[in-house]
Amino acid sequence: MPLPSITGIMAADPRGMIGKGGEIPWHYPEELAHFREKTRGHVVVMGRKTFETVPMLFFQERTPVVFSRHALDIPVCTVVSSIEGFLAHQEEWQDRKIFVVGGADIAHLFLKHNLLTDFILTKIHKSYEGTAYLKLEYLDAWEETILVTTGNYTIVHLKNPHAG
Ligand SMILES: NC(=O)c1ccc[n+]([C@@H]2O[C@H](COP(=O)([O-])OP(=O)(O)OC[C@H]3O[C@@H](n4cnc5c(N)ncnc54)[C@H](OP(=O)(O)O)[C@@H]3O)[C@@H](O)[C@H]2O)c1
Repeated sequence: MPLPSITGIMAADPRGMIGKGGEIPWHYPEELAHFREKTRGHVVVMGRKTFETVPMLFFQERTPVVFSRHALDIPVCTVVSSIEGFLAHQEEWQDRKIFVVGGADIAHLFLKHNLLTDFILTKIHKSYEGTAYLKLEYLDAWEETILVTTGNYTIVHLKNPHAG
């Protein structure tokens, strides 16, 4: 079966900072609305730490998949413990859009396995102190198209030149 097309969608400051102690240090309602709109109705893949920060309401209109090395029993979520475990479900999601929404651990896992075809990245203009960092160098050679620019952030679409 061909690999599904999977898109990363995250926001990061100029150094790749994405979160501080389980929270996101900026608050841009329109950027959040963009994230909600893009992912509505689709499969959203995340790490267990990110899952713990997301309000349950978010999952009502989305199909959540949570990565954990532990056998978690979370209602309404599919829990997987490896990329192989994730790919074992691909038939289920064959006709669905799949978004990897973070955090850094899970984004890096998909990037290392070259499993992302696209990335929608919000580049936050201001720098913040934080605890979780996305390694932006993974995206260096990706082909960039600007989608939205505001005074606070720029949203770009990145295309993986080496997508399998
Ligand atoms: N700015 C953004 O766009 C954005 C998006 C999402 C999250 N965030 C922020 O990012 C931070 C969380 O990111 P994070 O990188 O610390 O954590 P994370 O990626 O959300 O979750 C890490 C957890 O995922 C599981 N995991 C990691 N690698 C795995 C593997 N190879 N196989 C199976 N399970 C694996 C482990 O869960 P177990 O410990 O249960 O085994 C690990 O503790 C928070 O501050 C959050 O607010 C920001």
